[in-house]
Amino acid sequence: MLSRQIASKLLNYETPFYLYDIDLLRRTLESLVYESEKYGYKVHYAIKANYDDHILGVIREYGLGIDCASGNEIRKALELGFDPKGIVYAGVGKRDKELHYAIERNILAINCESIEELHVIDAFSAECGRCTDVALRINPDIDPKTNHCIDTGQADSKFGISYEEVLEHVEDIKSLKNINIIGLHLHIGSQIRELHVFENMCDKVNVIVANLASLGFDLRFVDVGGGLGINYDVPENEPIPNFASLFSIVQKHLDVGSREVHFEFGRSIVGECGELITRVLFNKTTATGRKLLIVDASMTELVRPAMYGSYHNIENITSQESAMEKYTVVGTACESTDVFDENVSLRKSRRGDLLTIKSAGAYGMSMASRYNLHDLPSAVYSDKL
Ligand code: LLP
Repeated sequence: MLSRQIASKLLNYETPFYLYDIDLLRRTLESLVYESEKYGYKVHYAIKANYDDHILGVIREYGLGIDCASGNEIRKALELGFDPKGIVYAGVGKRDKELHYAIERNILAINCESIEELHVIDAFSAECGRCTDVALRINPDIDPKTNHCIDTGQADSKFGISYEEVLEHVEDIKSLKNINIIGLHLHIGSQIRELHVFENMCDKVNVIVANLASLGFDLRFVDVGGGLGINYDVPENEPIPNFASLFSIVQKHLDVGSREVHFEFGRSIVGECGELITRVLFNKTTATGRKLLIVDASMTELVRPAMYGSYHNIENITSQESAMEKYTVVGTACESTDVFDENVSLRKSRRGDLLTIKSAGAYGMSMASRYNLHDLPSAVYSDKL
């Protein structure tokens, strides 16, 4: 972990802040590009994971496309110089102004999530004399074996169109003259660590693609989404996720002929390169004997533990003590769920010590809020130190 190596330097910064290891980000991107090029796979970065300008600038250097979930995310990607023809746009509830914006920017594809949305895009495209490229986001009904809060591809989920509904509306969809169905999209969930789940996904995709082709859909690409998990338990053991294993599974099981295969990774690209650095404010013990360590970060900087019960490994990076203590690490927000972790073994910690909350590069800063009118956290980049 970078923070451990430069802990004394970090003491001078106002906390809490995100520390980004740009060298690790680059090594992760190098591995991703190297492994994906073996099979000719195209990769989009899911910008929702972290839309920091400096990070996006580095990602752009590696030639990735962008997966967006809102009009503002498309705008951000374009402002940072990403090619519109590498941008895909998914989302169950795209607002009218967002659809107009996406249609006018001529992006690679709008990933449609309902039959009604297809009709609306067709009508908006007709109004401005265009024919818009879209992909059908199909709900494949797969259990991705992850935290239920972040699965997206099971039958009852709000995401995607059910395959049955697509089949019922084939003629209706084909009659829409101002959209081109050029791709198939799915995304089954996030933080997937059991990679065999992707085998099931490939088996389903093969059937769907073959059926849609026989029904006359001319699909140019198949976008199988993101979801590759990272090692939150011991990030030091696996700083760069295992892209090679996932790609080799997909290579072995996906059978979509000469169609392009796309991925949309968020967490696996930026998750491990970010740490949330926070300072100990106070120690206290509850009436029940629980030792609380009150730190100056909170759920407003990193909401994952409070929102999903997610685990992040925590370490005291400045204490010189050799004795370990068990603490419950809590934040400053006025919410009882504002707890980073319970029963954490840390070196004996005092007011002023710095803690790192690891693996916070994805869905950390991008989900920060100003609850309690907290300031948004700043960022420190390893290549600007
Ligand atoms: N593509 C689509 C359509 C998505 O909805 C997502 C994430 C991704 C790609 C990227 O997935 P990844 O490779 O990062 O797993 N806030 C939650 C995660 C929400 C994921 C939302 N969609 C968390 O902190 O765990």
